[in-house]
Amino acid sequence: MAPSRILVTGGAGFIGSTVIATLLKKSSTQAVLNFDALTYAGNLLSLQEEAKDPRYTFQRASVQNLEEVQRALEDFQPDCILHLAAETHVDRSLNHPQTFLETNVLGTGILLQATSAYWESLPLEKADAFRFLHVSTDEVFGSLGDSGQFHQDSPYAPTSPYSASKSAADHLVRSWEKSFGLPCIITHGSNCYGPKQFPEKLIPLMILQALNGDSLPVYGDGQQIRDWIYVQDQADAIYQAACLGKPGGTYFTGGSQEQTNLLVVETLCRTLEEIGPFVESGFYKKKIKFVQDRPGHDYRYSMDCRKTQLDLDWKPHYAFADGLRETVRWYLNNPAWVKSIQTGEYRQWMDENYGWR
Ligand code: NAD
Ligand code: TYD
Repeated sequence: MAPSRILVTGGAGFIGSTVIATLLKKSSTQAVLNFDALTYAGNLLSLQEEAKDPRYTFQRASVQNLEEVQRALEDFQPDCILHLAAETHVDRSLNHPQTFLETNVLGTGILLQATSAYWESLPLEKADAFRFLHVSTDEVFGSLGDSGQFHQDSPYAPTSPYSASKSAADHLVRSWEKSFGLPCIITHGSNCYGPKQFPEKLIPLMILQALNGDSLPVYGDGQQIRDWIYVQDQADAIYQAACLGKPGGTYFTGGSQEQTNLLVVETLCRTLEEIGPFVESGFYKKKIKFVQDRPGHDYRYSMDCRKTQLDLDWKPHYAFADGLRETVRWYLNNPAWVKSIQTGEYRQWMDENYGWR
């Protein structure tokens, strides 16, 4: 059943902002609450159009704050929670693991605690229809070799503080479901790319480095493999999981488009040459620089998504080359978004307008 009052945590982030745009395109959506702490990765400029919709509300708050979560639940009365709020960058998790533990583990636990009390207070029919959807990652299953795929029964084997904290969050979700009956769904997404992604992840970082004439830092030999999914495809999968997912269900929302990092960067260089400012042929490719590898760098992720595609009546639509072109075009056409992030102007504006209560 399509949810109608949806609380989205992390809605000002990369995937969350596309999820909110997707929800607001549905006539069944009556109200969306974007519950986001606005860390460096959250950006309200990503929701300028959506903010004009009377069904949309924003609340600056943290999933780590029990009282704020309780108040949001009581005031908003959601029939569905889409939990995307997280610290998400592997490199940051290597340098600053504590925030990953605080947000991804403690924050998810607090959100579950408040949600379960709220859910228990609902009348039977509403409690039956309620869904808590937790957005997780393929990285919780660890690293694969050249062959094989993760399956629904693959064991957890995280290797970075990021993937370990997401694994812990998954276990908390499952424990609330088993112990208290909370109707929970988990989606495991693959590497996502598209407009409005903070330029610390591979693709937006490379786009902005290239446009600035800077070097393109490829870790190690660039032969690691990721499975890429365009953000609209990921948002559609999350929506379908909220509508059709079964409590207790695990869904693999991957793009089924594996590429080595080097190939991704080379394709990006060609795309920039085609649709970016004029440069001589091979200009960007010459900027590729092999740099020191990430410690514990996972070699390959790959999920068998066939069951999810059938269960959720969903499949990704964007071929990688097309999604990449859309992404490059968006960064070329949105210098204000990019500049706001780079200059810190945005942060100042945000703090003035949305200071902590
Ligand atoms: P992001 O880093 O772009 O955004 C995270 C959002 O969470 C930001 O808006 C931030 O302000 C908010 N946030 C952080 N801490 C918070 C807190 N304590 N309380 C409330 N809000 C908080 O993340 P993303 O790339 O959009 O990822 C969204 C979710 O999808 C995450 O849970 C991530 O683990 C998962 N995921 C992402 C990818 C990917 O490739 N981006 C792949 C698989 C799974
Ligand atoms: P990233 O976008 O950080 O996602 P994840 O680590 O969650 O997969 O990185 C994608 C791949 O690109 C990963 O194998 C690391 C690599 N990478 C680089 O080679 N150079 C970079 O500057 C970055 C940020 C990532």
